[in-house]
Amino acid sequence: MLNITARPSETKPGEDAAKRVYIETFGCQMNKSDSEHMLGLLDEIGYSQTANLKSADLMILNTCAIREGAEDKVYSYLGAWRKIKESRPNAMIAVGGCVAQDAGSNLVKRAPYVDIVFGTHNLHRLPELVLKAQKSNAPVVEVFQELPEDLPETPVIRQSDISAWVSIIYGCDYNCTYCIVPYVRGREKSRTLEVITQEVKELGEAGYKEVTFLGQNVTAYGHDLDPKIHLGDLLRRAGTIDSIKRLRFITGHPRDLQEGIIDAVAEVETACEYFHIPVQAGDDRTLRRMARGYNVDFYRKQVEKIRKRLPDAAITSDLIVGFPGETEQEFMNTVSLVEEICFDACNTAAYSPRQHTPSANWEAQVPEEEKYERLRFLNTVVAEVSHRRNKRYLGKSAEILVEGRSEKSATRLTGRTRTNKIVNFEGDESLIGKLVTVQIDSANPWALRGNLRSPSLVEIS
Ligand code: SAH
Ligand code: SF4
Ligand code: F3S
Repeated sequence: MLNITARPSETKPGEDAAKRVYIETFGCQMNKSDSEHMLGLLDEIGYSQTANLKSADLMILNTCAIREGAEDKVYSYLGAWRKIKESRPNAMIAVGGCVAQDAGSNLVKRAPYVDIVFGTHNLHRLPELVLKAQKSNAPVVEVFQELPEDLPETPVIRQSDISAWVSIIYGCDYNCTYCIVPYVRGREKSRTLEVITQEVKELGEAGYKEVTFLGQNVTAYGHDLDPKIHLGDLLRRAGTIDSIKRLRFITGHPRDLQEGIIDAVAEVETACEYFHIPVQAGDDRTLRRMARGYNVDFYRKQVEKIRKRLPDAAITSDLIVGFPGETEQEFMNTVSLVEEICFDACNTAAYSPRQHTPSANWEAQVPEEEKYERLRFLNTVVAEVSHRRNKRYLGKSAEILVEGRSEKSATRLTGRTRTNKIVNFEGDESLIGKLVTVQIDSANPWALRGNLRSPSLVEIS
């Protein structure tokens, strides 16, 4: 049963003894979504969320292992939390997520003051582990090697009451030679169409406007179900739930983006014209050595298919620079592809060698300095092409889902276009959570600015 609550529960009168949990989340949306499920699970044993670390009875670090920097951050946070624990000995520290999945009991060897270690496959066990740790003097460590055969449905306390994340597939069956994800998230496992549709329906009834389907490889959704289905089938089904105005999905793998998915995005009214399909590199030899399973020409053709069907769709990517053995020329091929495709946005990163991945042991690692030089150069090109893409919106009207107040100004609102562009504009708080029409009048590489059109509210059927 899903317990869909928009806000962290408050302590009720007479319940002052309620325990408080503080949660810090690193990494991808999948981790953010997992944290919401941790909050839902802990609510059932009387923990309510606090934003004040120092008053927490339980401090949770939900970790990411994608790059060395993310992993280092875990230990530096734990060092700081240790000091808090010294002044409040009853407070407990729990570490979950991808670093915990990988390190298991080694984590308590390195940080013996940690009370609980749990992995990505046994999140549903968190309440039991917390109760056990309350009674134990020794750290409680539990990491499963795989997800349970029957996927547990866990309660959730979402941090937004407008947009909701819904995991549809866990794990990844690829073995890209740089990537730790298959190691810490396991094999692909899809939730059923029925379970997901029921969750989306409940979200609609609870007033949510937008649902983002999540997966490390969301375009592989349904390959493992019997009968086999694909993401397009799910979009079509979820598209019948009228109260949800926008459907999104991340992250896609270019190889699995079959035409049926593009067709569904084109035909399902609420499916947003936004494709995050990371190419990683724009060079055939590098792609082969990364074991991505496609070459540049295949990727180009995928983009052509999208743009033929949906000329205004946004296409975004992740890019890695300084992959072992990457030559200057090969790096420049990535730069050229960014210019040629003219991505709407890209997440860029310097290659980071990860344990358990083949490329970490390859000779010809690119020197750090060189990697960062390439990264800086690539970032300027990405900003240029994103700016070019964003300028296409100038003078046009766009439908925006208003997400909240802009952090930079008390009178400004912020929201997104269907193509996932951030748009800031002056407006009244009463518009938060609504679909409005905004006329775009300025653009930078990362966001757009505009003015509310009159009438501003989009008709909602
Ligand atoms: N499943 C997605 C990506 C998930 S990981 C896909 O296949 O595209 C998110 C991003 O982290 C990746 O797209 C990649 O660009 C980056 N990444 C993964 N491993 C990395 C590493 N070892 N060094 C640097 N970046 C890495
Ligand atoms: Fe990592 Fe590759 Fe799987 Fe993406 S497809 S999660 S990059 S192994
Ligand atoms: Fe990081 Fe794990 Fe996500 S390694 S990117 S939190 S799947």
